[in-house]
Amino acid sequence: MSSVVVIGSINLDIVATAERLPVAGETVTDAELGRFPGGKGANQALAARRLGADVIMVGCVGNDADAEDALALLREGGVDLANVVVVNDVATGVALIAVARSGDNQIVVAPGANRSLTAESLVVPQADALICQLEVPTETVAKAATNFSGFFCANLAPAKHVDVSVLQRADLIVVNETEAAWYGESLRACTGMLATTFGAAGAVLSRQGEDLARVRPPRVEAVDTTAAGDTFTAALTVALVEGQGPEDALRFACAAGAAATLKPGAQPSLPTRDEVLALL
Ligand code: RIB
Repeated sequence: MSSVVVIGSINLDIVATAERLPVAGETVTDAELGRFPGGKGANQALAARRLGADVIMVGCVGNDADAEDALALLREGGVDLANVVVVNDVATGVALIAVARSGDNQIVVAPGANRSLTAESLVVPQADALICQLEVPTETVAKAATNFSGFFCANLAPAKHVDVSVLQRADLIVVNETEAAWYGESLRACTGMLATTFGAAGAVLSRQGEDLARVRPPRVEAVDTTAAGDTFTAALTVALVEGQGPEDALRFACAAGAAATLKPGAQPSLPTRDEVLALL
């Protein structure tokens, strides 16, 4: 069994599911409201756990009622929460998510306690793999990258400036097509693998401009695409660390991402390994 450390965000997702997404300045009504545990870091931690890894989560929550709701499925799923710090006088991170019947979404995040995961306070446990994203301070991600000695995956989401040392240290960088366009030429600093996702059109795994694999995901009827990218990131990392080759690992990750779109909510939708294998 592989071991994974995830350093990143923990949120409570407040989700309104409506017929369609509003355009700027518009009100869309008749939505259904839901509350789900989320946050890119926490989603990736639980996704890796459900795919069979031993997982340590490093993050921060507030000293409030939302914290327990945000941590509930991580706890139930057996993710090690000994490195999750409760911070006084700040709120647990909240994501406001609008989901359309098509499965597409829009997300606005109020990071709250996730901002308290500072580089100064960071302790980096060792494991086979480390996964970071960018919903916590980027200095923290840079320190984590430097202080970790195993396989390092940087999911550069949401897009923001990161120290070039993160790009140079990463064994695997994961971006979606929007993020890939935002980072542009700066991704050339990456000497490891680069995975670029294209939603239902699949993903490409490359190294220094050379394709290693291209995969289309299995066709599914998407209900909610929230956390599909997080699931893809966790699955690709787990598969590569297990020793799967680029083609098999990318196929596994695409199927895992597709499987995560079949149920509403971020963490309730994260698939088990058997559910992923059933789609392959
Ligand atoms: O990637 C999906 C996640 O992004 C949601 O769970 C939400 O919390 C935001 O962080």
